[in-house]
Amino acid sequence: MLGTLAIMHPDVEKILIGPEALQARVAELGRQISRDYEGRHPTLLGILKGSVVFLGDLLRAVTLDCSVDFISVSSYAGRTSTGEVRMLLDLRESALGKDLLIVEDIMDSGLTLHYLLTTLKARNPKSLEVCTLLDKPDCRKVSVSAKYVGFRIANEFVIGYGLDHNEKYRNLPYVGVLKSGK
Ligand code: PRP
Repeated sequence: MLGTLAIMHPDVEKILIGPEALQARVAELGRQISRDYEGRHPTLLGILKGSVVFLGDLLRAVTLDCSVDFISVSSYAGRTSTGEVRMLLDLRESALGKDLLIVEDIMDSGLTLHYLLTTLKARNPKSLEVCTLLDKPDCRKVSVSAKYVGFRIANEFVIGYGLDHNEKYRNLPYVGVLKSGK
């Protein structure tokens, strides 16, 4: 049963992943990351803006010492990827010698991650991995993969839990499918 905060927004066709399922999976990912990085001090690198809600929850599920940094990139106009990824804000700290864990909300065409992986590898981090809440494997335009995946989903336009459409819906506490025409 969904909590009161999960009441459907009128623009939402259906709830794909509810708050409880999100929290349970994020807790699992936090445990897995904590085990894998034991004895190290990873930097969780949030990709603005879509990852902020996921990052906030994941961070609190990780039980080892870690740092946080952010990169802002953008490539979407409405529902469509422009195919051109633009860096809007770079890391504050140097990536050299760090255990970088990219935290994304969604892998779709893969163009954003391909750009980030190429850009960050060139800065010689000690390690570079990806944790994405959602993966749409059918939509790939370039070959990229993530070590940590919350949920694999079909090719539907999803919003909520950080994901937007024209900057709306990021605050919904669930991942939902947007009604067509919205
Ligand atoms: C979204 C999302 C990912 C990217 C995934 O970002 O947050 O970063 O698209 O799509 P791709 O695999 O097709 O590249 P967006 O450019 O919409 O910016 P935002 O995070 O600020 O919403």
